[in-house]
Amino acid sequence: MKVVLLGPPGAGKGTQAGLLAERLGLEHISTGDLLREEVHKRTELGRKAKGYMDRGELVPDDLIIEMLAGRLNRDFILDGFPRNLRQAEALAEVAEVDRVLDLELTEEEVVRRLSARRVCEGCGRNYNLLTNPPVTEGVCDACGGRLIQREDDRPEVIRRRYRVYEEETAPVKEFYRRLGLLAELDGARSIEEVFQEALQLLEPSR
Ligand code: AP5
Ligand code: MG
Repeated sequence: MKVVLLGPPGAGKGTQAGLLAERLGLEHISTGDLLREEVHKRTELGRKAKGYMDRGELVPDDLIIEMLAGRLNRDFILDGFPRNLRQAEALAEVAEVDRVLDLELTEEEVVRRLSARRVCEGCGRNYNLLTNPPVTEGVCDACGGRLIQREDDRPEVIRRRYRVYEEETAPVKEFYRRLGLLAELDGARSIEEVFQEALQLLEPSR
């Protein structure tokens, strides 16, 4: 099965993609995570991408498409791609998507959630000070690593990312709606509620 997750920053794409990938045996491909890894390793791609990411803008399509080359031939759940029509068309050339889940969340809720997000420096696990805090403040439950804030989780950058989503990614929803693949989910519910609905949509016979 080939699945795409859409939705504004902070809607829960990474959280749900992780859960669904594990349950359904799909590969979780997050372009944001891949890019952050490149930045961390200070590769040529990471160097080129960093400025865009810190400003909350999209990294140029060519870099993203090249980064994904060769990764899309197995079953996957894509988180953070495609983010504009050109990327959606590029994806259609190499893979046949079965289902697109769109997680919706308002801008105010996005800012509230992302301002409270913390990420483990070591293993990348996500926490939320409001909804999903670590047992010990500032320390990862899983690996003991230090919890930090993402560079782009500052309120002004979060709002910029939300604008970019509305302007560039919203047309991707129409693209998939016309193909009859789009399902919209309310991302403001609990992680478990969203997960159960997503499972129902992906495996209707369950
Ligand atoms: P990316 O990493 O994709 O960031 P994003 O789209 O802004 O989304 P987030 O990762 O912030 O949120 P999410 O929806 O994954 O939510 P999460 O599950 O973490 O992209 C970053 C940057 O990389 C972009 O700005 C761009 O520069 C570049 N980039 C990436 N892909 C690109 C592409 N294809 N083309 C060009 N550029 C690209 O949850 C958020 C928080 O909420 C967490 O704290 C979590 O614990 C909590 N939470 C999750 N679900 C719930 C819930 N149901 N209830 C309560 N809390 C919840
Ligand atoms: Mg994410």
